[in-house]
Amino acid sequence: MSTVSPKGLSPTDRAPIRVAMLGCGTVGSEVARLLTEQATELAARAGAPVELVGIAVRRPDKHPELPAELLTDDAAALVVRDDVDVVVELVGGIDPVRSWLLAALNAGKSVVTANKALLAEHSAELFEAADASGADLYFEAAVAGAIPLLRPLRESLAGDRITRVMGIVNGTTNYILSAMDATGAGYAETLDEASRLGYAEADPTADVDGYDAASKAAILASLAFHSRVTAKDVHREGIADVTASDLAAARTLGRTVKLLAICERVTADDGTESVSARVHPVMIPRSHQLAGVSGAFNAVYVEADAAGELMFYGQGAGGAPTASAVLGDLVAVARNQVHGGRGPRESAHAALPVRPMGQTPTRYHVSLDVADRAGVLAQVAQAFAAHGVSIAAVRQRDANDTASLVVVTHLAPDAALQSTVDEIAKLDVVHEVVSVMRVEGEDQ
Ligand code: HSE
Repeated sequence: MSTVSPKGLSPTDRAPIRVAMLGCGTVGSEVARLLTEQATELAARAGAPVELVGIAVRRPDKHPELPAELLTDDAAALVVRDDVDVVVELVGGIDPVRSWLLAALNAGKSVVTANKALLAEHSAELFEAADASGADLYFEAAVAGAIPLLRPLRESLAGDRITRVMGIVNGTTNYILSAMDATGAGYAETLDEASRLGYAEADPTADVDGYDAASKAAILASLAFHSRVTAKDVHREGIADVTASDLAAARTLGRTVKLLAICERVTADDGTESVSARVHPVMIPRSHQLAGVSGAFNAVYVEADAAGELMFYGQGAGGAPTASAVLGDLVAVARNQVHGGRGPRESAHAALPVRPMGQTPTRYHVSLDVADRAGVLAQVAQAFAAHGVSIAAVRQRDANDTASLVVVTHLAPDAALQSTVDEIAKLDVVHEVVSVMRVEGEDQ
């Protein structure tokens, strides 16, 4: 039985929505497969057939599995071809992709992209080009793979006031930290093992140094707070300095360590608002829902005034999961083209400033080996007091003439906490600063 659209034409009778794809690797090959295998259902859902008319790859001769007549090595020419309605970009990186997508949008072609690095730097320019020509710009696959997260932020929660977006948005680092937690092994040997098993890229820099997560945080903060936040605005620390001692200290206290992207609306005492966007390792209680997210999975918490707490969980990478997000966007673009209208434009009306990390309120967990004699605790406490940092909890365990001291603070400006730790490290009575980690998810 064919489905009849409101205008009386069945979807398969309508002019197809013609798609050019840039890049055909792990994700692209899944997009091509699903476009073929699910052509009938996609046509019914979109309101017209969705047809692949060209694929740009660097080396067409390396793709015998793809129809030769679709292949080209000239992406710049493909994106502006008259027979292309939508460009799906799965190449990644900023140049030359930026110029291809701007050319496509300027020519009125809608764009579906998974390119987080490009969006985190140049989304304003891309949105302006889309607005000028009336094209769509969709990018669900750019953050957290298969998880529907950007559409909820852009559309479902457009009537709410989001206060926080916090989560695990990088599977590689989550895999490594989960493995360190489970085995007690150090960072370097766990990274080697992850590479050997294919969980880490040959060059893992973008993942382990937090660049990938920082791009995603910029996109999430921009959408959540209706402001322009770029990757450069995001405070970034990776996991290379997380040690087996950090994980051991966390385990002793019923906690674990995760690399989190944290985007918050911060309200100052005078009522002015700003955005804090950061990526760094965080100690969280094992009872926290994010602590249970292990291996290569992603999970993101969203807090909004009316909705309360929401949690999004699923596969954040991989061919088929990411292709699912790309196809969802393609169907949305096709529907807009069939029925008229456009998807959401850039929403940056709030234009909130980005708060420097040093002024961002955080909490620290500090684990120290100290001399076990009278007055030591007082000296350590005095260092916190001197920087205006209030202590929430202190725990001490003795071993011979050394004591292991754990201090957890209340919220304080991050710069004050850093200065406190620097001063404590210089105290004669402190033998070693064993672990310093920011804390989330506990009573303040
Ligand atoms: N490299 C990313 C990760 C996947 O490890 O999660 C793509 O964003």
